Amino acid sequence: MTAPLKIGIAGLGTVGANVARLLIEQSAALNVRAGRKLTFAGATARDKRKDRGVDLSGVEWFADPVAMAKSPAIDVFVELMGGEGDPAKAAVEAALAAGKPVVTANKALLAHHGAKLAAAAEAKGLALNFEAAVAGGIPIIKSVREGLAANRLERVYGILNGTCNYILTTMESSGRAFGDVLAEAQKLGYAEADPTFDIGGMDTAHKLCLLAAVAFGNAPALDGIHVEGIERITPHDIVFAREFGYRIKLLGVATRSDGGIEQRVHPAMVPLGTPLADVDGVYNAVVAEGDLVGKSVYEGRGAGAGPTASAVLADILDIARGPRLPTFGAPAASLKRPAITPMGDHQGACYLRFTVIDRPGVIAVISRCLADQAVSIESMLQRSRAPGEAVPVVFITHEAREAALTRAIKAIVTAGVVAEEPCMIRMERF
Ligand SMILES: NC(=O)c1ccc[n+]([C@@H]2O[C@H](COP(=O)([O-])OP(=O)(O)OC[C@H]3O[C@@H](n4cnc5c(N)ncnc54)[C@H](OP(=O)(O)O)[C@@H]3O)[C@@H](O)[C@H]2O)c1
Repeated sequence: MTAPLKIGIAGLGTVGANVARLLIEQSAALNVRAGRKLTFAGATARDKRKDRGVDLSGVEWFADPVAMAKSPAIDVFVELMGGEGDPAKAAVEAALAAGKPVVTANKALLAHHGAKLAAAAEAKGLALNFEAAVAGGIPIIKSVREGLAANRLERVYGILNGTCNYILTTMESSGRAFGDVLAEAQKLGYAEADPTFDIGGMDTAHKLCLLAAVAFGNAPALDGIHVEGIERITPHDIVFAREFGYRIKLLGVATRSDGGIEQRVHPAMVPLGTPLADVDGVYNAVVAEGDLVGKSVYEGRGAGAGPTASAVLADILDIARGPRLPTFGAPAASLKRPAITPMGDHQGACYLRFTVIDRPGVIAVISRCLADQAVSIESMLQRSRAPGEAVPVVFITHEAREAALTRAIKAIVTAGVVAEEPCMIRMERF
């Protein structure tokens, strides 16, 4: 009979405490699915005395995550502390060095150190599973790495941050401003006290580079991502988007291009009637486009105790069952840093909102600056007229090179016809 698999959990917060609770309460069902007994054997967190609603009797407590990672008391190290540096990094390295497979939900750690950690895991023939790190409860890593393994994937993209999607959805349904909705999201627990990582796009960038690595077989390339957040989206933009037949979503998009890969995170106009346009609230969704399968769409809860524990436990079950796959699909030795296509080469249509002082000649100046860079205008909208006052004016451009758009916007600002920094939102053709 196979010996019990002893699980050590580092971090007993939102995710870790739920994984621990489920290992205890769902033990019978999980053991059947694992084909062997799973034992919650070790735990560590900062504060031993905190009540986490989990029965820790019979579980060995470690003051130090690295000590637990090395201890013979555990067979599998489950890292649920978070953070790109120590103790998460040191503990995962220690676990792999000690010959223990690792499960982590830590996108920051893998976005920064994924290739090295994958090599360390592979050198010892160990699993380093990270399903929960990307899109929470959606099994997107497994789907891309295993289910779509026969495809050449050309593009993966999606809504990867539930906080931003909740804020944008609520701004649209209530007509309220960004700051107002963010404050409410914080009260409801949908946004962190420090929301910078979520709303600034960095959380999505962490997830995107992991997803792209699995999709394209390269090392995660976080520094090659163009990142913008949703802070500057206004209710005006959301209303205008609807009028043009779009909704605004924070997207992560990774595309194979001739020279390498293009990776970008920014608010985008998503055409109504396409799968991502209808993804609301805290939900996430991912689309993968492959040569054999075409377009496949995955939607579900991207965060929260339940969905994240679902992914972590599935990774533990995989280890218990036996098969071990390369962390990013391809062997670690072949994970090269990809060539990055610069954002200036991005080609696409674009929504431009200018806040202008309503006086004769302003529209002509903007049109000329765009024409000077060979950016042609598809349509223009000026909602209200208030002579002498600031009003929003919106232009939709035809496809243009990003570098040309950037030069045109700079010239418009220099011409002194706008009252505040222009807002540019890229329009996607899915
Ligand atoms: N929450 C989600 O919905 C979600 C979704 C997907 C992925 N994730 C990822 O899952 C991981 C955990 O997230 P979470 O939301 O559960 O975080 P959390 O609620 O803040 O919990 C973090 C846990 O780690 C422990 N910890 C922090 N620093 C430590 C240290 N230096 N030594 C020992 N223990 C330490 C904390 O101990 P104390 O409790 O004693 O303070 C706490 O138990 C992160 O990587 C996160 O990105 C979370």
